[in-house]
Amino acid sequence: HKRRAQSGLLNYLYQYLPCSSSPSLPGPPRLFLIGNMMELTHDHLPIHLTNLAQRYGNIYQLKCGNTTMVVLNSNEVIREALVKKWSDFAGRPISYTGDTVSGGGLSISLGDYNEEWRAHRRFVHSALQRCCQKSLHDVIERQALHLRKVLMDYKDSAVDLSEDFTVAASNVITTLAFGKEYDKSSSELQQLHCCLNEIVALWGSSWISALDSFPLLRKFPNPVFSRLLKEVARRDEIIKQHLNNYKSQDKKNEDVITGSLLQGLDKHHNTEHGVLLTETHVHMATVDLLIGGTETTAAWLNWTVAFLLHRPEVQTRVHEELCTVLEGRYPKYSDRHRLPVLCSLISEVLRLRPVAPLAVPHRAIRDSSIAGYFIPRNTVIIPNLFGAHHDPAVWTDPYSFRPERFLDGGGGSTRALIPFGGGARLCLGESVAKMELFLFTAYLLRDFQFILPEGEAAPPDLRGVASVVLKVKSYTVIAHPRPVTNP
Ligand code: HEM
Repeated sequence: HKRRAQSGLLNYLYQYLPCSSSPSLPGPPRLFLIGNMMELTHDHLPIHLTNLAQRYGNIYQLKCGNTTMVVLNSNEVIREALVKKWSDFAGRPISYTGDTVSGGGLSISLGDYNEEWRAHRRFVHSALQRCCQKSLHDVIERQALHLRKVLMDYKDSAVDLSEDFTVAASNVITTLAFGKEYDKSSSELQQLHCCLNEIVALWGSSWISALDSFPLLRKFPNPVFSRLLKEVARRDEIIKQHLNNYKSQDKKNEDVITGSLLQGLDKHHNTEHGVLLTETHVHMATVDLLIGGTETTAAWLNWTVAFLLHRPEVQTRVHEELCTVLEGRYPKYSDRHRLPVLCSLISEVLRLRPVAPLAVPHRAIRDSSIAGYFIPRNTVIIPNLFGAHHDPAVWTDPYSFRPERFLDGGGGSTRALIPFGGGARLCLGESVAKMELFLFTAYLLRDFQFILPEGEAAPPDLRGVASVVLKVKSYTVIAHPRPVTNP
């Protein structure tokens, strides 16, 4: 705490000094040749980076090969970089492996900041908005009711719900993206999930990131990278098939995002700022939505149930609130302002387990500064959202699950949360995700009580497994139906 406070004071003073006299960034000692590479191989990187912040302050640097990374660990410094100075830090690292998984940098999530990327993001953002306005609420309600049926059919048996949550979240996105929903047993769905999960897991592995930091390694055989290439090819085949199916339909549905995007290309042949968007952009945007929108929401639902098993009385409070306020009917998203206890639960799980704990790395596209430190162009910026959400200067008892901190007088403020990042790279699916988290949780806690199987302790490992997405370790639970309440 002392270290954080000291560095805060220094940073405050240095803000008023010119860049040339700004201090050099603190950071752990470097080893010959590999620099701080070992710091990045830790099994739970968000926790490790947060622990380093206790020693080196809310902003410190790590060096890997010829890359300098700056890790940001508080809401204040993250907002300074991502929101206040968004135009300095909106880039993505120039990455050999990133290019491999993103069709040569043509995805929104991994593409670098330039006119083409801006046009692409705007194009997809407005298609997403249009489709969401028309149907998002209905699509989520339908999946929430389907999930309810699946849980009812388990008839009080102890199960691992993670796959059901993934199917529900995935069906929201596939319905929005290409008007299709799948059954859990569908081989098409399993293939899609299997390869997207593999890509995310492999891409997050240190075997792959080493190829970016140490280009020489690319000359040697790397079985993990070969597997990644195979999965990327499989992913592209599946998406291509969906786009071709759409194109071969006689009556084309513009209400689905891919349809709207393909029609958009046809209509305008978008030439704004001399940028030509092509079918590859639509292809990669579909990948972005599927990857960005499935495991994140599913992981969040899984965390919520895991934490509720530790504090069953929170479930009871949410259930009572739902019954009192809604008088038996199912909730609408517009009810959220009247359901503070439910909203406090959502905020607390987002705080404790931001499912994209290190966001996606940014890159300084010009010389700039953060907290008074000079940040040269091409520095990689890692927003440690997990660290910001556990900052003891902001949160009392930061490691405890206490939704009540967000209720009146609890001391917590949702303004100090930053689970979706911010600025130019703000999560593209933030509004989709927020509606999903609200409706899925409300439907589940209205109709079920989540209880531990007899003789089992609540999931003991709440640290989770950290890759690009932070997931809870698998556990089983009983979804016990609540007595029926009639509207
Ligand atoms: C990016 C969080 C759900 C699509 C991100 C980023 C974060 C994030 C932290 C990185 C921001 C940055 O680079 O600074 C979350 C959380 C979710 C969620 C916590 C749910 C609980 C979704 C959903 C979708 C989605 C449902 C799609 C419908 C994307 C895309 C990007 C992104 C496309 C890349 C944006 C860009 O680089 O411009 N998300 N996300 N996410 N997310 Fe989400």
